[in-house]
Amino acid sequence: MTIVVTGGAGFIGSNFVELFADTSNEPIIVIDKLTYASSRDTLHKLKQNRQITFYEVDICDHAAITSIIERHQPVKILNFAAETHVDRSIADPSVFLRSNIEGTHCLLEASRQYFETLKRESAENFRFLQISTDEVYGSLSLDSKPFTESSRFEPNSPYAATKASADHLVRAYHKTYGLPTLTSHCSNNFGPRQSPEKLIPLAISKLLSGEQIPVYGDGKNVRDWLYVKDHCIALLAIGDHGKIGSSYNIGGGAEFSNLTLLTKLVASFQQRVVDFPSLSKTLKLGAPEESISFVQDRPGHDFRYAVDHKKISDQLDWHPKYSFDDALEQTVLWYLENIDWFRATHTDQHKAWLEYQYSSK
Ligand code: NAD
Ligand code: DAU
Repeated sequence: MTIVVTGGAGFIGSNFVELFADTSNEPIIVIDKLTYASSRDTLHKLKQNRQITFYEVDICDHAAITSIIERHQPVKILNFAAETHVDRSIADPSVFLRSNIEGTHCLLEASRQYFETLKRESAENFRFLQISTDEVYGSLSLDSKPFTESSRFEPNSPYAATKASADHLVRAYHKTYGLPTLTSHCSNNFGPRQSPEKLIPLAISKLLSGEQIPVYGDGKNVRDWLYVKDHCIALLAIGDHGKIGSSYNIGGGAEFSNLTLLTKLVASFQQRVVDFPSLSKTLKLGAPEESISFVQDRPGHDFRYAVDHKKISDQLDWHPKYSFDDALEQTVLWYLENIDWFRATHTDQHKAWLEYQYSSK
């Protein structure tokens, strides 16, 4: 019962592979193009596990994808592969269109061709799971109800627009060709192995270097945070028991403004870093407000995301298992304990991105 995981060398994909390998002995085929968002250490870890076969392949490469699917005859394909950083999509949307829309289409087409060759039992078990985002629904005001699965798609960033486009293609492949698809819409994840361009690891890296954390606008934007392991547990449940052709929202119910989140993060960091003298001896640990600086806002910055996860709770008995505060503390600890992993993400390319993104703000 082989599964294919695309984007398995990235943040959520690698956490999913880890969870799947902990709970099953079935083969895992990881396909990843190894963009800047993947890491050599994560890849090394994947390659050491004999349950995993790794292919460095672009999901837009139809011939390679078709050949991998034919060779391994998967029962499920989970598509995590995507360009994922909103600010980069604002700087240059083109690669987002290619990987997120064309790449998803290529996977759907290869899956359809394969699905049509399957005998009845295999066809009944086959699933294509598209990992999407709550950002397709757009932005909420403080007094709006959280997004449900029937909320309208109103994507605001180029990233969100490409994810919404891919979701429409997934729906079309189900309606038109009968491909057994499922789609998930999750809120903001945090946890181990997240690229340091995203707010939480970026903030930890700034605290470690004694620099201020850049906060966009007034810092009042709200996000609904979910520990990555909870997201992965939800995806296992959707893949195994989700209703074919439907979508599921996944959220943590842990809504915080960016300022509140950073206050919690700075407190957790200051408590934990003192146990790592080699990291803390030159740091000056000041009040949380001294750790941040307000910078120019993100263009089109969505004000608030909040996800109603009643459907997945009612139908699949999924509920967030980890408390936000504990998970945040574990996350801080993970980055401090894995400082080599963290440092390895500070490539010249990453430094050039930081220079581009923040120097003029
Ligand atoms: P990430 O940027 O950490 O990892 C993405 C991975 O996909 C990388 O390993 C990269 O090399 C790979 N990839 C990119 N383009 C590819 C291509 N053309 N072919 C093959 N591989 C390619 O992303 P993430 O945060 O782990 O997100 C994974 C998925 O979950 C994405 O689809 C994203 O939209 C979705 N999602 C993310 C969040 C979040 O908070 N991070 C929340 C909801 C949904
Ligand atoms: O909601 C799910 C989405 O969450 C995923 O689909 C995306 O792939 C993922 O990147 C994330 O998108 P966000 O834009 O919400 O995440 P990011 O970490 O970039 O930003 C979180 C909030 O922090 C947002 O309001 C912008 C703000 N921010 C971000 C950065 C990088 C800052 O204030 N300063 C920063 O330097």
